[in-house]
Amino acid sequence: MTTKYRFSLQYPKPLEADELGAMNQLARDGNFSRYTSDVTNQLEQEFSKFFGVAHSVTCSSGTAAIHGALIGLDLPVGSEVITTPVTDVGVVLPIIYQNLIPVFADLDPTTYNLDPKSVEAKITPNTSAIIAVHLAGNPAPLDELLALAKRHNIPLIEDCSQAHGAEYHGKRVGSMGTLGIASLQQSKHITSGEGGVIMGNDTILMDRVRLAVDKGWQRFKSLRERRYEFLSLNYRYTGIQAAAVLPQVRRVDRILAKKRRMAALLRERLQPLSDSIGCQLVLDGAISSYYSFPTYVKRDEAFRDELVDILARDYDIECAYGYANPVPLYLCTAALEDPVKHGRGLRYTERRYPKGTCPVAEDLLKRSFLLPFNEKFDESDVKEMVTRVGAALERMVTTHAG
Ligand SMILES: Cc1ncc(COP(=O)(O)O)c(C=O)c1O
Repeated sequence: MTTKYRFSLQYPKPLEADELGAMNQLARDGNFSRYTSDVTNQLEQEFSKFFGVAHSVTCSSGTAAIHGALIGLDLPVGSEVITTPVTDVGVVLPIIYQNLIPVFADLDPTTYNLDPKSVEAKITPNTSAIIAVHLAGNPAPLDELLALAKRHNIPLIEDCSQAHGAEYHGKRVGSMGTLGIASLQQSKHITSGEGGVIMGNDTILMDRVRLAVDKGWQRFKSLRERRYEFLSLNYRYTGIQAAAVLPQVRRVDRILAKKRRMAALLRERLQPLSDSIGCQLVLDGAISSYYSFPTYVKRDEAFRDELVDILARDYDIECAYGYANPVPLYLCTAALEDPVKHGRGLRYTERRYPKGTCPVAEDLLKRSFLLPFNEKFDESDVKEMVTRVGAALERMVTTHAG
């Protein structure tokens, strides 16, 4: 056994020498901000083409993108935003900071995405928005979620931070909700280390979004007439970041094609182990971008823990427990575990998020694990890794039988 497979989503994604031109030029000119060159505007146009939307606005992170989207939508203070408990905490923190109330709907245990029935059950007259996350690059059930949002006349935000280029019935995710958002943090398919983007088709709303990540400053007006139009923060992206991302947007489809081939091979190779291990289901009509490759054991937490331990100890495969976090967000985020202590009087402190809030998600994370999987993996890595997983499982079955 020579190769050690380590779970890490953050790995180097170097630019080619001929892709560094714009960055070098900006550095030589000393034009670092988004407003002192045209590169950020160019990138926003590329993003709009890539995602298939009319407008894109870059910002400083995925968390900022969620916050900018919520500010742009101008949701009533104290209203409820329904989302998933299995995602990055950057989805939930802006809800709280915007003085809105996060409400967690449960998951479909096969897709790891929101279960529309659970979302529907959590809708109240006080619900003002839904945030659907395409987890691990896997498109959420948008037909049902969009129908729900339409029926209740509330906006749906699509979070495609992990799903740049994923598709749902022929359209790119991020383009179908009222707004889409994505992170450009180091682990993502397209990255400038940190960064984010908000996209949408509604021109008036996107004009607000542009101000929502730029202190509400009316740059479109003359200096004499400008005002700070509403309450918002500085979440601006920089020209240097945009120059790093521009070439990646142009070649990400090639990277995604390889990831999809490797994911198909991984799925095929894991099939003979399907009595013990299941893989995240991709819905009919959906194409995942395979940010990661969630898997789960069909038995219990003890079986998952033993498998992950053996893989690390004896087979040089280090996996993540659960989905990056071993438990849903409300069980590992101080602000949700104890809203009164950490909530600083914000409206969500009226709520509690105890164990049992989303039983399916809690059970799924006890049985889930993430195998190492990234864009550098080739066929031999996939085959080798599955061979080792098969050997570990065989040993476990033999030991338990004996
Ligand atoms: C689904 C999802 N949403 C939001 C975020 C937050 O993005 P950022 O880390 O850029 O703030 C992430 C980042 O990890 C994410 O994976």
